[in-house]
Amino acid sequence: MKVTAILLAAGQGTRMKSDLPKVLHPLCGKPMLWHVLEALQVATTEKPVVIVGHGAPEVEKYVGDAAQCVLQEPQLGTAHAAMQAEALLKGKTDYVIVTYADMPLLRGETFRQLLETQRSNPGPFSLLTVIADDPRGFGRIVRKADGTVEAIVEEYVATPEQRDIKELNVGAYCFKAEWLWEALQRIEKNPKKGEYYLTDIVEVAVKDHLPVQAVVHDDFIETIGINTRIHLSEAEAALRMRINREHMLNGVSMMDPVSTYIDVGVKIGRDTTILPNTDLHGNTTIGERNVIGPNTIIRDTTIGNDCKILASVLEGAVLEDDVDMGPFARLRKGAHLKSRVHMGNFGEVKDSTLHEGVKMGHFSYIGNASIGARTNIGAGTITANYDGERKNPTEIGEDAFIGSDTMLVAPLKLGDGARTGAGAVVTKNVPDDTLVVGMPARAIRKLERKTKR
Ligand code: UD1
Ligand code: CA
Repeated sequence: MKVTAILLAAGQGTRMKSDLPKVLHPLCGKPMLWHVLEALQVATTEKPVVIVGHGAPEVEKYVGDAAQCVLQEPQLGTAHAAMQAEALLKGKTDYVIVTYADMPLLRGETFRQLLETQRSNPGPFSLLTVIADDPRGFGRIVRKADGTVEAIVEEYVATPEQRDIKELNVGAYCFKAEWLWEALQRIEKNPKKGEYYLTDIVEVAVKDHLPVQAVVHDDFIETIGINTRIHLSEAEAALRMRINREHMLNGVSMMDPVSTYIDVGVKIGRDTTILPNTDLHGNTTIGERNVIGPNTIIRDTTIGNDCKILASVLEGAVLEDDVDMGPFARLRKGAHLKSRVHMGNFGEVKDSTLHEGVKMGHFSYIGNASIGARTNIGAGTITANYDGERKNPTEIGEDAFIGSDTMLVAPLKLGDGARTGAGAVVTKNVPDDTLVVGMPARAIRKLERKTKR
């Protein structure tokens, strides 16, 4: 059995008042379109077809290999949009699921239910409805005495009695493929709007005395459609709660889920606690027993186990186990903090590795550097890594001690056990176990190493 989805995404999304095509507006880190494509995978067996129009180049670029795109030009309504897939799909699929790309909360399971309903329906198609007090401009479902669907009436043509109908058209349909192509041809242009409405396909079936079934959905939240940015924020809040609940059910604690913003796809291990006002974005993976937040933003970062991260901003970083950070620390791309690193307030690290047990308590910038295990970075230490043209490396050995307010003018190497005096401006390499002081720093003494591994 072949099942193919047609996703309608050609509309302008006028009510969004945006230069970005509506279906590319993000929800919990991924475009609306991604969410629908993801859900449809559960119920379909073939590559979906996305109908594009407004903003077609951008939408096509985003879709890439995930679907076949067909241009609808001009955009003459939802039935006309579905028709554009005929050339690609005729004779190649048994069932067609048609849905709108602005319904990003629908779950894969819901599409599967719709397909199952249609498979046992003697009639040509089934559709998804929801019972709700707030109609949100959705089409109303008119039922016949026998319970089958008689019509979908759009709000602007509905009579006052029809407007009171609580059963709404969600915008997901499952058709017998061969019937669909013929029926689409029979839909007439809507006299008021000059468009061909997919919803009028109900009448085509009814005229031929064929039964149209409906799956009544009980979760109104899942059927939030997005026409305005207000809807977008409502969908975002709903999806956020769905994501957070799933993490909590998997063993993650959240003090305040409402102020915890986690993108779809972020992974978190059990017994990790997420404190309020924390954002976890992109390709982020967090291990077990960590305490993250409050007031922390993490993007595209991997974190091991047993770390504490307080009020910090991390992007493109890797943290191993037992790392203790913040408040007010910042990690940028390529920061790698190995186990037991301590990084206190007002530090910034980018493109650098801090090996096991490095301590960097206060006010420091470390860029393009490697800091050996157990080395202490004194308050105010800076790697002067940029000479106006190039980024130059700094390499510091193990068990070194960098005095407060040291300037490390790269390229530079400091050996194991090296020390710098407070305020040193280091311009030349420092051998192992050597103390340098002053500006420019010069060696004054060979040292006995205190810290032993
Ligand atoms: C539509 C339904 C309505 C349903 C509601 C649920 C119709 C006529 N009405 O109304 O019954 O309750 O969705 O969300 O179908 N599109 C195209 N090409 C076009 C026109 C639209 O691809 O020529 C796409 C849009 O990009 C959008 C989808 O179809 O993703 C639905 O269009 P939209 O204008 O949002 O329909 P609604 O007014 O929401
Ligand atoms: Ca819509």
